[in-house]
Parts: sequence; C-alpha cells; structure tokens
Amino acid sequence: ERRLEPGGNLRAAWEALMAEARACTRCDLHCHATQTVFGEGPLDPTILFVGEQPGDQEDLAGRPFVGPAGQLFDEALERAGIDRTQTYVTNAVKHFKFVARGKKRIHAKPDAGEIEACRWWIDQERQLIKPPLTVALGATAARSLTGKTVTITRARETPLTLPDGGECWITVHPSFLLRIPEEDRRREERALFVRDLTRIRERA
Ligand code: URA
Repeated sequence: ERRLEPGGNLRAAWEALMAEARACTRCDLHCHATQTVFGEGPLDPTILFVGEQPGDQEDLAGRPFVGPAGQLFDEALERAGIDRTQTYVTNAVKHFKFVARGKKRIHAKPDAGEIEACRWWIDQERQLIKPPLTVALGATAARSLTGKTVTITRARETPLTLPDGGECWITVHPSFLLRIPEEDRRREERALFVRDLTRIRERA
C-alpha cells in the first residue's frame, strides 16, 4: 500500500502514481493505444467519477471524458448542478481498446482480465484521494469497483458501501445515452441520468 509520510505531499504522491501509470504494461492494451489516460481533477473532490475507458478523442488528448460522451456528461452535470471542476474524473481502464476499421478506431469493450489488471491504478487513486462519494458510470466501472456484475436498473436505486468504507453510487454510462436511437426513450433516459446525478449531488 502506498502510504503518505506524516506531513507528506498528496499531490507529489498522486503525480508519482500517474507517472508510473504512464509506463503501464500490466495488460496488452498499451501496445496499440496512444497513451495512458489517467484521472484528473482536484485531489479533495466532492465526488469521484469512474467511467469505462478512454475513447478515441480521450486517447489522443490524454484526458478523460473530452469527446462526445464527455460533452453529454458535462451537460448532465450542469443540469444536476454539479461543478465538474470540483470532481475527480477517471476511468476503470486507462488505455483505449479498439478495433481498426479502415481509418476509424471503433471502441471495443474491455474484458474481465483488463478490468482486473487496471484495478491496480483505480484502487490507488481512491486510496490517495479517499473520496466521500464514488460514482460508477456504467457496468464496467461498477464491476471494477465492486468486483461483481451488476444490473444498473436495480443498482442505481441504492448506494453501496465499498470494502474501504466509501459510499458508491451506480448509474448509466453517458455513451449508452448517445446510442439510444429512439428520441423519446433517449430523452427519458437522459432525464433519469440527471435525476441520479441530482440525488448524488444532494448527498455530496
Ligand atoms: N468513455 C469513458 O468511459 N471514459 C472516457 O474517458 C470517455 C468515454
């Protein structure tokens, strides 16, 4: 376990962790991704959000949730009255996994082994930051945090206590909302996502 010296500098410990993660070879995803996309935000956040893995744009920018899913996430946060600059945003898996189709890179789901290998980093981020509230965006994040397969519909109704005592809420992943073709259903699901985020803000 990474320990802070008495009076130790949290930011220095976090920067050292990020530097180690940049050289990660714990699974094969580093072979094709551009770079490790580590978490970002204040180290005393109100909420720590966990996504699935960086997408195409995040892989290029080196920052989490800056592409289309990030835009939807930002809009939902705003509607729920959450200031993203006071939150820490990271991913369960820190390299982009994709299949190449022509010039396009199509998102591929991380498997259980990749999620497990990458828990090494998210566990240490949470140990350093000790967030009062952790939010899993989607099933991959929920699996990484709880070690279990969860059904979002049921799990989103009640917070869980993680083994380290932290409170954890589970909700949908913003990319799921982008993929709903039918407009009414998309609107309903987006409203439910904002409802979840509003509940979470009220606890923070
Ligand atoms: N989807 C994620 O889960 N994380 C990102 O950073 C971007 C898209």
